[in-house]
Amino acid sequence: MNAIKLKEYIARVTHGAKLIVVSNREPCMHENAGGAIKAVRPASGMVTALEPIVRAVGGTWVAHGSGSADRAVVDSCNRIRLPEERPEYVLRRVWLSRKEEDGYYYGLSNEALWPLCHIVYMRPQFSRSDWEIYKNVNQRFCDAVLEEAEGNPSIIFIQDYHLALLPRLLRNSRPDLKIMQFWHIPWPNREAFRIFPWGEELLDGLLGNDILGFHIQYHCNNFLDTVDRGIEARVDYERFQVFRGGRPTIVRPFPISVDFEQIAADAKSSLVTARKKRLLKAFGEATSKTRLFVGADRIDYTKGIPERLRAFSLMLQRHPELHGKVTLVQLAAPSRTHIETYRNLNDELDDLVDEINWKHMSEDWAPVRLMRAHHDYYDVLAAHRLADVLLVTSLHDGMNLVAKEFIAARSDNDGVLLLSQYTGAAREFTDAVMVNPFDPDQLADALYDAYIMPETERTQRMRRMRPLLAKNTIYNWGAKFFETLECLPTCEKNVSSF
Ligand code: G6P
Repeated sequence: MNAIKLKEYIARVTHGAKLIVVSNREPCMHENAGGAIKAVRPASGMVTALEPIVRAVGGTWVAHGSGSADRAVVDSCNRIRLPEERPEYVLRRVWLSRKEEDGYYYGLSNEALWPLCHIVYMRPQFSRSDWEIYKNVNQRFCDAVLEEAEGNPSIIFIQDYHLALLPRLLRNSRPDLKIMQFWHIPWPNREAFRIFPWGEELLDGLLGNDILGFHIQYHCNNFLDTVDRGIEARVDYERFQVFRGGRPTIVRPFPISVDFEQIAADAKSSLVTARKKRLLKAFGEATSKTRLFVGADRIDYTKGIPERLRAFSLMLQRHPELHGKVTLVQLAAPSRTHIETYRNLNDELDDLVDEINWKHMSEDWAPVRLMRAHHDYYDVLAAHRLADVLLVTSLHDGMNLVAKEFIAARSDNDGVLLLSQYTGAAREFTDAVMVNPFDPDQLADALYDAYIMPETERTQRMRRMRPLLAKNTIYNWGAKFFETLECLPTCEKNVSSF
């Protein structure tokens, strides 16, 4: 499956219905930058995955306009055609006040649902006023989607945990819409979910979908179990469906992916070669001659960044012969910094980097380089190509697309992927060096194993992982959703009395 085939396939099965994708984060933010307006692609696994599909298929993407210059570039209907140089789809921006952003995005979405769904021992914060704002903002998105649908047959594809109430709101206004949603983060077990104060309403919202997708079967099972105990509905464990309000919601795993061919081609391009040179220059001469352990993440407590730094330091302590021979380069994109836990994590990283460098450094070598900035797509690909070892040590993650980006970028069949066993990607890539990031000793040993892995073994592992990824690209993911949508009429025959 590729972009062209997906476009043809979707045109065939949607019978002229309009495609509307909805998410909180927009695929492109316009920012004021020194008198000019700059288009920025945000650091978001969701955007990385969805953008190639929307570009291929066309349609409208409804999202929060959060860039400082976003209002300056839209038309009178708050729309802009993207990409600006060769438009392929329409972005419709929804404006939120500071208060709405606080309650809905920072509060309910990222201080309540994000820690609730990621089991990393970060206590979720619940606030009734955030919940009220979350409900209102979901209604605002509903109004925008209905406007974009203009009463025509439409397929609405909702993304993520910011918009859990949207499916029911849409269903109540337009029972004829086809509605599907993908939950990009894990779904916790029912005991963990039980503490969420507005659980029934949230589940009812999600059961407004025709299809609800998670990355892996385990998250689907957790969801079905949560519904079974948490709300009046009939769960059909044989067919993975839930019946509520007279129609079914199909709950299935759809492991998300990347545009394999595009990344492979871009990673070999002259632009990425130039970026590699630029990065090496930024690292300094001594660092650029060492073997590189690379991390590329948003600064988020789910990503296990302090854990990997501590393990790296432990490895250096146990193997003094590595001093001056290895460096850990961390590309770190600032994220959600209005939330205290995220600000604290930033401080913790500064302290930790300082401590580790002070402990091990020599005159011309420092073991850790923390590059805190928004790094664009080409810089990340350059870092992937430079990496001897890529570190993906998330404490819990739905998929962790950076692992897939790395595999796609390594058309040279080199580089070791060190991967947390608590990521969705770990289910697919057993040839990665698997780690438990909560265990510092095991992580330090694994870093060393990755360092000494012979070239033949590195190549063999990468050669086995790449075809797996090539068979399951983001286009296969998109096609699977629409294939499932096609079977809906038959599924609907099973309507129950709930
Ligand atoms: C995760 C979520 C995405 C989100 C991304 C970046 O990958 O699943 O929906 O866009 O994090 O977070 P942000 O809060 O910056 O959108």
